[in-house]
Amino acid sequence: MRITVIGTGYLGATHAACMAELGFEVLGLDIDPTRVASLSEGLLPFHEPGLPELLGKHVKSGRLRFTTSYQEVGAWGDVHFIGVGTPQRAGDGGADMSFVDASTVALAQSITKDALIVGKSTVPVGTTRRLKTLVQDNKRPGVTVNVAWNPEFLREGFAVVDTLTPDRLVIGVESREDEAVLRKVYATALAGGVPLISTDFETAELVKVAANAFLATKISFINAFSEVTEVIGGDIRTLADAIGIDTRIGRRFLNAGIGFGGGCLPKDIRALQARAAELGVDRSMRFLDEMDGINLRRRERAVDLARTMLGSLSQSRIAVLGVAFKPNSDDVRDSPALDIANRLSDEGAQVWIYDPAGNSNASRRSPQHHYVSSTEDAVKNADLVLLLTEWDEFKALTPEGLSVQTGTRKIIDGRNILQARVWEDSGWSVASLGRRYVTTQTTHRPPSEQLQMSSGPAV
Ligand code: UGA
Repeated sequence: MRITVIGTGYLGATHAACMAELGFEVLGLDIDPTRVASLSEGLLPFHEPGLPELLGKHVKSGRLRFTTSYQEVGAWGDVHFIGVGTPQRAGDGGADMSFVDASTVALAQSITKDALIVGKSTVPVGTTRRLKTLVQDNKRPGVTVNVAWNPEFLREGFAVVDTLTPDRLVIGVESREDEAVLRKVYATALAGGVPLISTDFETAELVKVAANAFLATKISFINAFSEVTEVIGGDIRTLADAIGIDTRIGRRFLNAGIGFGGGCLPKDIRALQARAAELGVDRSMRFLDEMDGINLRRRERAVDLARTMLGSLSQSRIAVLGVAFKPNSDDVRDSPALDIANRLSDEGAQVWIYDPAGNSNASRRSPQHHYVSSTEDAVKNADLVLLLTEWDEFKALTPEGLSVQTGTRKIIDGRNILQARVWEDSGWSVASLGRRYVTTQTTHRPPSEQLQMSSGPAV
């Protein structure tokens, strides 16, 4: 079975390399010749642990090739995966389907033997049925081209492991034959016990957006409680730990902080609302608007804290540690950290940024900042340090170590990873998202608060 992958961005490049790792002959297509040239040399244009090795291995073996030609893909492949982007549309926040539609039409027009088109992109419910008609209208006569949907649940930073050993496989199919083809594609995972949910098109599409909406809701749920603990006191991490022990709730995705970003959760909850409105069920998804609002308020809160700690942001020098939307990634799309850095500089601060992988993407989007290649260079002469992405090297920072590198003793922990009390005992003023920021320390505090309470002026 020959597999093609249309679109070699994050999703497509990972899928192509992993399909080759599973033993298939794979041809990846991208309309960007520079990207195709780079991938053909085994060079990955973004950061993803483990993926450069797979790419290099299979480009070398010849099992994985790349092209810009739909003719080549259509004549060669048996199963065509579509992994192109569905960015946020200007205006109503719906998904821009132009890349999915254009690639489906181009593919249908180029396919010269019976084939299955399998969508993997995150799409509005109803897309597969619509594309089925588009394929029928554009395919060559005498050729059978079926359509299926197979949403992807990979996380950036874990893309390879999530693709090779997913926690579940979901397929939307209209026939047993198409299901059998996908069972063959995923034979290794299925043999390893990965559950397969075979369902209709609409359910498969909705599983993906519902999963991301749920994850976004979990994060905003704990961040909503942050807004409460910031006023009345209490320890947001202990709260998350305590409710998370209940397996019905679960501890994962309850880390309070500056909130969610990236190329998926923010745009997916907006696209879901836009689609619900088109379907006349906008009220059903209206809660997601609130989740979005809670999430965006976290960024404002971080800036408010900075302003409070410094008195004024104007003329200040601020070190930002971490600018990627999450650790182990160089992705800065809708990054809360980069947004906060931009807001700080809008208020007159000079921002010095260090991220282990995200600097170059961030500097293309926000060239107004100073980008440096170490924590030491970022914090030198800083008035305030903001820790905004929880890379391991930032988790390992100690108050003594950082004190040697900078004169300031003020830090904002945007990801709740520092032991605030330990830092405060070393003379640091610590503000964290989800903790009350107060001037004086009380003498009798409950144990959790003793660990978490910070010093400084009340906000
Ligand atoms: C997300 C989903 O987790 C994947 O399952 C999905 O396949 C993917 O979107 C997609 O649609 O393609 P990803 O965008 O890689 O994956 O990032 P996440 O790990 O979900 O993190 C999203 C954001 O939430 C990050 O900014 C992260 O810092 C933030 N986050 C996460 C929190 O603020 N708190 C948490 O407890 C967890």
